[in-house]
Order: sequence, then structure tokens, then C-alpha cells
Amino acid sequence: MTRGLFISFEGIDGAGKSTHIDRVAQLFREAGRGVVLTREPGGTPLSEKLRELVLHEPMDALTEALLMFAARREHLVLVIEPALARGEVVLCDRFTDATFAYQGGGRGFDWQVLAHLERMVQALPGGALRQPELTVWFDLDPHIAARRLASARVPDKFESQPANFFAAVRAGYAKRQAEMPERFRRIDAAQNRDAVGVDVGRVVTDWLKQAAP
Ligand code: TMP
Repeated sequence: MTRGLFISFEGIDGAGKSTHIDRVAQLFREAGRGVVLTREPGGTPLSEKLRELVLHEPMDALTEALLMFAARREHLVLVIEPALARGEVVLCDRFTDATFAYQGGGRGFDWQVLAHLERMVQALPGGALRQPELTVWFDLDPHIAARRLASARVPDKFESQPANFFAAVRAGYAKRQAEMPERFRRIDAAQNRDAVGVDVGRVVTDWLKQAAP
């Protein structure tokens, strides 16, 4: 049996991840792999309910971080771990790096508390932490992202934040990349959609060549 693969996609709101994630899913399906396409916060019935709350209700910063991790725990136990055990490819639209970037960077919430919650929620039997093996980071200037979002859907609690919040989120992603450079690949999301798509395809294909079997 082929082993499972866990890939996450990250970036500030408006960075344009979604279409590219669908293309990566297509790439794996064409290669004959089972694919689980999922997202955070969300991915299970309970986690989707938590998503509704965190995206729309005002709340204390620790409450927000705890709900993100609660949704993640359910998602890991019910969806991600079983799919990896079946040897499937899990493509996750955001994972824990988003908590460090948004709650840690954007909200200024304590990085060490987040790291503690991460260890509680993502510990595997034996003590290692479940992390994506590859994280594709769509990096974009917040002003460009704001222009893109202005013509899109009605903004949620995060999308309606000002550009300086997203500058801090972006810095949060950069800090996380500096902490775990081996799994991060940065994509210049200011390029046009086709060029971004080419970069995403190359990053995933190159990574697959060197990923352990
Ligand atoms: P989405 O709209 O890209 O699905 O993401 C939902 C929003 O939730 C997005 O603004 C980022 C935010 N978010 C956090 O603040 N912390 C997290 O841990 C995650 C996963 C998302």
C-alpha cells in the first residue's frame, strides 16, 4: 500500500488558494491516488459548527484559539488520521500554521501557549507531532489581497480586518516558516493565476520526488 501524504495550503485571506488546491487534487487523482480534500476550521460536522462560531461571533482571544484547536482535534481524529492510515492524500486548506499566523501573528496571542496547545492536540502515539509534510504558502502583500477581496463575497470576522492585521498574519507565517523551513514552500501569490498554478504544480511535483516512499 502507498503511504498517506499530508499537504496543507496557507496564506492570508485573498491570496487565492482555492482553485489551486482543486488542481492539486486533480493531479493526485490522475496519478491514481485517493484524495481527501478538506479544510480548517471545519472538515467534520462538529468542526463546521465550530467554524460558524469562530468566523462570526466576537470572542476572547484564548477562546478563539481553543475553538480552533478543538475543531482541529475532531478533524484529526475523525478525518485526517483515518485517511492517512488508508494511504490517501490529505489536502487541507489551512492547518495549524493558520492558528500561529492569525491568532499568534494577527491577534498577538501568546506563541508559546499556541505551541503548547499544538502539542496537546497533534501528539501521536510515541510523542511525535502530526504535521503536514508539505505546506504550500501563498504569500501575498495584504494590500493586493484587500483589493482582490473587495470584489468577492461578504466578509467574515477575519476578512473584514484591516490591512495591518493581515501584515501581522503574514509576519506570523514568515515566523512559522523560519521555525520549520523544511516543510514550507513559499509561492509568490502576486503573480497571475496561471503563473501561480505553474509554481504550485512544480512545488508539489518536486517535493514528491524527494518525499520518502
Ligand atoms: P477560509 O475562509 O480560508 O476557509 O478560512 C477561514 C478563516 O479562519 C480565515 O480568515 C483564517 C481563519 N483561521 C484562523 O484564524 N485560525 C485558524 O487556525 C484557521 C484554520 C483559520
